[in-house]
Amino acid sequence: MNFDRTVKIAPSILSADFANFGAEIEAIEAQGADWVHVDVMDNHFVPNLTFGPPAVKAFRKHVKTVMDVHLMISPVDPSIEAYADAGADILTAHVEAGPHIHRTLQAIRSAGMKAGVALNPGTPAESIAHVLDLCDLVCVMTVNPGFGGQEFIDMTDKVHSLRRMIGDRPINIEIDGGVDPNTAPSLVAAGANVLVAGSAVFKGGSVATSQIYGHNITAIRDAIDDKESSFRSSNP
Ligand code: DX5
Ligand code: ZN
Repeated sequence: MNFDRTVKIAPSILSADFANFGAEIEAIEAQGADWVHVDVMDNHFVPNLTFGPPAVKAFRKHVKTVMDVHLMISPVDPSIEAYADAGADILTAHVEAGPHIHRTLQAIRSAGMKAGVALNPGTPAESIAHVLDLCDLVCVMTVNPGFGGQEFIDMTDKVHSLRRMIGDRPINIEIDGGVDPNTAPSLVAAGANVLVAGSAVFKGGSVATSQIYGHNITAIRDAIDDKESSFRSSNP
């Protein structure tokens, strides 16, 4: 996985048909998804429960792009090896999930994955100032984690701060929660380059009508098109 700042659309399979993950993953990739975002929830760190390492390992067989695994679990460290074995390309842990995010990020990289850190809406950008060199991705939550389809919480200022803090380091800024053609442009203009979208990609479609997924992905891309080029021209 090479780093580049072109904007990636990462559909969250939290909004897919839970009885049909393999076909859903293949459908979104065929319809233009750049990455596949996998939301792991433990009914402890967040008030919802999804799936764990064996299911994620089964998803891997269907993912041809990048498997971006977002852990909403606590503790994180005892599960890192299991997600490496499951085939995660990127493993993201929440800074709020435990007292030792530095150790967690080191362990994720040592296990051979790209390391991500996620920030809840109430957590300031500065909380990760001293671990940025251990990160390949910073995930800015624009909802309180736990559910798809929630109302967007504007974090554009946080994205601006992170972009300044990151400078020219090869670190992706990902947005997660309530991303759609209306909310995406200002975030991309502020420097975000990975857009997670659950409901906005899956709404109205199904495996049988997957061209609707393609239409929904294109709607997000069209909305950010000029923002992406303006961000790139001012940040070569
Ligand atoms: C929320 C998850 C998100 C979620 C986004 O806890 O981390 O990835 O699926 O869903 P939408 O795009 O519907 O807000
Ligand atoms: Zn997520």
